[in-house]
Amino acid sequence: MFFLLLSSFVLAVAAVNYPAIPNDETTPVQQHIAIKGPDSMSIGWNTYEKLTKPCVHYGFSSDNLTQQACSTTSITYASSRTYSNAVTLTELTPATTYYYKIVSGNSTVDHFFSPRAAGDTTPFNMDIVIDLGVYGADGFTTTKRDTIPNIQPALEHTTIGSLAQNINDYELVVHPGDFAYADDWYLRLGNLLDGKDAYEAILENFYEQLAPIAGRKAYMVSPGNHEADCTELDYTSGLCPQGQSNFTDFMNRFGHAMPSAFPSSSKNSAAQSRAAKAAGLANPPFWYSFEYGMVHVTMFDTETDFPNAPDAPGGSAGLNGGPFGFTNQQLEFLTADLASVDRTVTPWLIVAGHRPWYSTGGSTNICAPCQTAFESLFNKYGVDLVIAGHVHNSQRFLPMGNGVPDPAGMNNPTAPMYIIAGGAGNIEGVSKVGANATGNAFAYADEFSYAQVQVLDKQHLGVEFLKSSSGVVLDSSVLYKEHGVAFVVQS
Ligand SMILES: *[C@@H]1O[C@H](CO)[C@@H](O)[C@H](O)[C@H]1NC(C)=O
Ligand SMILES: *[C@@H]1O[C@H](CO)[C@@H](O)[C@H](O)[C@H]1NC(C)=O
Ligand SMILES: *[C@@H]1O[C@H](CO)[C@@H](O)[C@H](O)[C@H]1NC(C)=O
Ligand SMILES: *[C@@H]1O[C@H](CO)[C@@H](O)[C@H](O)[C@H]1NC(C)=O
Repeated sequence: MFFLLLSSFVLAVAAVNYPAIPNDETTPVQQHIAIKGPDSMSIGWNTYEKLTKPCVHYGFSSDNLTQQACSTTSITYASSRTYSNAVTLTELTPATTYYYKIVSGNSTVDHFFSPRAAGDTTPFNMDIVIDLGVYGADGFTTTKRDTIPNIQPALEHTTIGSLAQNINDYELVVHPGDFAYADDWYLRLGNLLDGKDAYEAILENFYEQLAPIAGRKAYMVSPGNHEADCTELDYTSGLCPQGQSNFTDFMNRFGHAMPSAFPSSSKNSAAQSRAAKAAGLANPPFWYSFEYGMVHVTMFDTETDFPNAPDAPGGSAGLNGGPFGFTNQQLEFLTADLASVDRTVTPWLIVAGHRPWYSTGGSTNICAPCQTAFESLFNKYGVDLVIAGHVHNSQRFLPMGNGVPDPAGMNNPTAPMYIIAGGAGNIEGVSKVGANATGNAFAYADEFSYAQVQVLDKQHLGVEFLKSSSGVVLDSSVLYKEHGVAFVVQS
């Protein structure tokens, strides 16, 4: 009796939920695409075997894929079952629908929209999801997955479903950190005996669930604390199996897919040399920038690579990651990059990183070293909007400078406006709104939600928060900025 009980316990506990490996191991899985340059896109995908020459066919119609791009990038790490492949498609006509097919014995045609040229004044929307984890009834299954437009909302876990249903409402997705939550594998009893495989299984499931979205819309990423290590438990990194520490999966998956910084879109020669300097200092997928229509977007790393970074060796999170650049490389990048932005071409300057420094819920929710490292740069160069997550809810702050709401409010402030869009949904659930904070204008934590940034025109930027289960607009605001100065430098 005891042995029967014991063996059924072990069977129940040992079931790691890995997806089935396709018979044709060149089958593309976990697809994601990104803006790689002013006229280029990267196509990234994983396979269960190493590819000697990953290739993509593409063209203007699904039955005429006349062009081909290839690479030799097919990389893996110690505990992974898959290889990350990446190919860049160059010399694309801007703002045009392309069809593409990853070369494999078993692949299908999908399509994407090539990047809008810097200075294109067509309005567009950019969806923001942060802290997004695996879907499904138990948080780890893939049975509810389908392709666009019919992804079934899995119980109350609905953000990917909403992104699928509203696929024509946005042109790109920005996701600064916390993907999958593989390092939370120990929160499911069934994973306890098999942490190494449970971690990998969660990653495979998550990126496969995300593929219908990330394989069609430019999916721009930067790191969060859940990419750092094999568990979120402080100071356990010494116990991590090889390959599951130091942002390894994140680097393998996205390192060849994200851009560095674009050549300047300005006629000003100082701006051109600053942009060239920024390109040399960029370190994708950790910190980098891109331009799209009326916007310059800078992605930054709140985890490592600045003084007292929380995930750095000896840092407050105990996650022992990085550094990924030389001392102050990220800050030098940000200085050159932000200073290069010519507002007569890209009036809007938006930055996105994982951890916030303005949040409700008290001081445990904020990253003080991040504020010390980054806020003065964002004030100086007139950043319009700062996007963060990490706190699992939706929040909007008035434009804020050094803890004080800008007296101009939403009417041509000099300080950046701040949002938190960390309510997209993961195994940890939502975080209570908690105590109010100076400058807070909206906070919501009843259900999963996400944000949409609406680039309306050169002077108006909309932000809406949407309830994932219904698409209902929870909060709506419009920031007005005059943008009368080409190169903003403020004290
Ligand atoms: C082909 O790909 C589909 C999913 O994209 C998969 O279900 C199927 O098993 C694959 N077939 C082979 C022969 O690998
Ligand atoms: C296929 O595309 C190429 C350019 O990519 C074009 O020159 C050619 O005319 C197209 N063929 C058809 C049948 O549309
Ligand atoms: C993490 O990886 C980077 C880049 O490979 C390396 O320079 C750094 O030393 C690593 N950090 C740790 C704690 O192993
Ligand atoms: C904080 O106070 C402001 C001003 O009264 C209000 O608009 C906002 O909704 C409050 N936020 C929370 C989280 O209570």
